[in-house]
Amino acid sequence: MLSVKPIMGWNSWNTFAAQINEKLIMEMADAIVEKGYLDAGYEYIIIDDCWARKRRVNGKLDPNPEKFPHGMKYLADYVHSKGLKFGIYSCAGSITCAGYPGSYGYEYDDAKMFASWGVDYLKYDFCNFSEGGDKRNAYLTMAMALRNCGRDIVFAACNWGVGEPAEWMRSHGAHTYRSTGDIRDSLKSFTDIFRSQYTNIEGNAPGCYNDLDMLIVGMRNKGHVGAGGCTDEEYLMHFAMWAFLGSPLIIGADIRKIDSECAKILLNKTLIALNQDDECRPAFPLRCTEKYYTMAKILDKGKIAMAIFNINEDNDWVQNISVVFNDLGVPSNKGLKLRLTDAVTGEDIGIYEDGIWVKVPPTHFKIYVAEIITEDTNQESENQ
Ligand code: GLA
Repeated sequence: MLSVKPIMGWNSWNTFAAQINEKLIMEMADAIVEKGYLDAGYEYIIIDDCWARKRRVNGKLDPNPEKFPHGMKYLADYVHSKGLKFGIYSCAGSITCAGYPGSYGYEYDDAKMFASWGVDYLKYDFCNFSEGGDKRNAYLTMAMALRNCGRDIVFAACNWGVGEPAEWMRSHGAHTYRSTGDIRDSLKSFTDIFRSQYTNIEGNAPGCYNDLDMLIVGMRNKGHVGAGGCTDEEYLMHFAMWAFLGSPLIIGADIRKIDSECAKILLNKTLIALNQDDECRPAFPLRCTEKYYTMAKILDKGKIAMAIFNINEDNDWVQNISVVFNDLGVPSNKGLKLRLTDAVTGEDIGIYEDGIWVKVPPTHFKIYVAEIITEDTNQESENQ
């Protein structure tokens, strides 16, 4: 099965848009390995829109020879030689969002071509799709074409949430599906996506995940989707949200230039572990208001994670926010206690009963991984 866990990788769009070429993609493949991102799980190097020749040649899709002089097989071979996987982009309409040829009517031809190049992932966009056309069938057709092209290719649908994809993309063969418009490099953009999707992830499970769009961590307002940039705390919260909600984690920044603070965020082992947990369960909401959101997520080995996101921007609004353990299926009248670990620092913060009340300033969050203390372990810690 493909996409057993949320896909991790890098995509060219957020930073480079049309400014892509062979050398850049190779440098990104080098950097993702050398800087430890592959070891952390980021495996896919994905070329977004603007790689193709403006017109099809002999009915075939062709890379722009000025940008990709040795062709796509050469580049895919290079990416594979680094232990990485190779992704590319097309569109369900006849023309892509940036004006390059799309796959409408050519789904089976293009899928075969992608397979012959060694493509492992296809992002499939939705621009210029004929009004009144059957969008579900368009995605199904490419899903079937990919399944019959002779190679395992992840099908990353991207229709920006048109027609409630959470209700049909999994059954129509997508391995990931974008559910919102494009992210921008700002607090407002990623919190808007969070608000619109935190209740829309129940279908996340091996084989298909809701894709909240590429990460903006590390962009620092440079590149195509710059919109003011974010503070370190905001980037950390954005990454924690995407990890907690089980979104694919696709870096959008220039990997060669990500600063150390943002590299620390993207390489945070405990947050990545939440995203890649073996149970592959979606998170669910506990208590949510317009200002803050508390959520939980069952983890492997009987653990459960709880998250408190304060996305209110009013600086005076530092709140004591609680998570009641009864809401996690851990009733205190049974004498059950939880040992909590901070999911950002990995620090053991101790044993709690009934619930936890924490001060969370605006645009900050807390995530704890909780483990039930059995009588034996309880005894042990009391004796210490
Ligand atoms: C759409 C998608 C983006 C990107 C561009 C490329 O806007 O949502 O992620 O792929 O097209 O043109």
